[in-house]
Amino acid sequence: MPLPIGRFSLTNVARLYQLPRLLQVQHNLRAAMSSSPGYLINEPKYAWLKDLGLEEVNKGVYSGGAWSGSGNRIDSICPANGRKIASVVEGTPEDYNKLIEAARAAWPAWAETTPPARGEIVRQIGDNLRKNLQLLGKLVSLEMGKILPEGVGEVQEVVDICDYGVGLSRTLSGQVLPSERPNHSLMEVWNPLGVIGVITAFNFPCAVFGWNFSLSAVCGNCTVWKGAPSTPLTTLAVTRVVAEVFERNGVPPGVLSAICAGADVGAAMAADERLPLVSFTGSCAVGREVAVTVAGRFGRILLELGGNNAILVNADADLDMVVQSAVFACAGTAGQRCTSTRRLVLHSSVHDQVVSRLGKALESLMAKAGDPVEQGVLYGPLHSPASVEKYESAVARAQAEGGQIVFGGKRISRLSSSGGYFVEPTLITGLKPDSPLVQEETFAPIVYALKCDSLDEAIRINNSVKQGLSSSLFTRDLSNLFRWIGPRGSDCGLVNVNIPTSGAEIGGAFGGEKHTGGGRESGSDAWKQYMRRSTCTINYGKDLPLAQGIKFE
Ligand code: UN1
Repeated sequence: MPLPIGRFSLTNVARLYQLPRLLQVQHNLRAAMSSSPGYLINEPKYAWLKDLGLEEVNKGVYSGGAWSGSGNRIDSICPANGRKIASVVEGTPEDYNKLIEAARAAWPAWAETTPPARGEIVRQIGDNLRKNLQLLGKLVSLEMGKILPEGVGEVQEVVDICDYGVGLSRTLSGQVLPSERPNHSLMEVWNPLGVIGVITAFNFPCAVFGWNFSLSAVCGNCTVWKGAPSTPLTTLAVTRVVAEVFERNGVPPGVLSAICAGADVGAAMAADERLPLVSFTGSCAVGREVAVTVAGRFGRILLELGGNNAILVNADADLDMVVQSAVFACAGTAGQRCTSTRRLVLHSSVHDQVVSRLGKALESLMAKAGDPVEQGVLYGPLHSPASVEKYESAVARAQAEGGQIVFGGKRISRLSSSGGYFVEPTLITGLKPDSPLVQEETFAPIVYALKCDSLDEAIRINNSVKQGLSSSLFTRDLSNLFRWIGPRGSDCGLVNVNIPTSGAEIGGAFGGEKHTGGGRESGSDAWKQYMRRSTCTINYGKDLPLAQGIKFE
């Protein structure tokens, strides 16, 4: 808000003498206001947030069709400038308890709604998201910090998985198998699990919810969603879009419940016997705790944890495609996708060329760094000050271990001075593939270039880390390709050829092996995790033959 300069009358001689001081005061006030405690939502530039139903203070719990919240009031912070967007009153473990009971109450009616009728509700949710695509995408960009096309793209993933869910609602199929006994039928019947819990992370504040919710809903479950504590506005705005469809159609409102809350509610969900499945996206460390707790009560878990994804570049690769892919996969979303490329495994014959070209490409990307919500910006900030600290500590460790920075390694001062969390995308050479730093996932735009002399060695390096999410080989040779996707190739859940490690489509099963957790979300047969399978053997004859020909008479 500009200061009303006209308030100072230059004809007032007494004040004229004070002009230099007044100008200084005015300057200080302007500086103070650029980091003012006011909420962005109250400024005209951000008035569009209100079109998503958001206010300065928002209730953070949607339960049984009503909004509430009796926990702490927290602020959602914009990573591009460090300012408060709006605030949310979080839910407490007591709020969570009430919410679960409302979800359980809604379940019988939803479970008995036919799958195609459930699909019709999901279809309408997809349509309502389409109507709000641009605004929701802008909110994701503002609150998470990813660039606008990626924000819109993320909401598009939710639309797409809703479409997928509609089709699925007419194809959820079991098998009929041959029985060894006469006049018997052996078949599989799939039924919903009940109420399931979904805990999502800040980097994909709505897509991962969508993958889980669409499938869970058509399968006949009620879903309880806890979004990331630092992206509560996206949780609320997306929930509102779903809730409108419920209200219009008289759907039992407990089919979706949402709670903005901290780790206490996450822990309660993991321990809660009333949730037969907990789907968790986040770090390996927290995922391990969730897994152990859920397994301790014999619940089901669906884990999407860390990645340490590599692009392997064979000697015969198309290097133009390599560089273009590496820029997107290393610097896209400022390196904050689970699928971001963290390691480049380069054949020694192309190593220097790729490193030099990628370094230049990252440098020229800096001309397009800026406020992620603005058109034309391709590179935004990290999500939080904690992410910046982790980035800086990894860069310092890399240097201490003898790594050379080809490009990057610093905050972007031209952008950070306005309060945002901007750091340069960073390319580092000279570290060993088995260095502890290279073996870790740093959730930031840092990529380590590693040298190798054969495809076998490259695959060994790819598979040498604990995580197993995404991987990509660049080659034009068919025999390399089939080796890569075969039993002695990549050990990851996503195994790509001539494309980046990030940017998976919703139609395939998404997830990874080893410390990535083993879960599969989104397409293919991921729906089976949201249902229980009954093997039903039906005797429609008059005799009672036993299996294996056993006589018990
Ligand atoms: C994640 O980073 O948690 O494949 C999910 C991708 C996106 C999803 C990433 N479709 O990069």
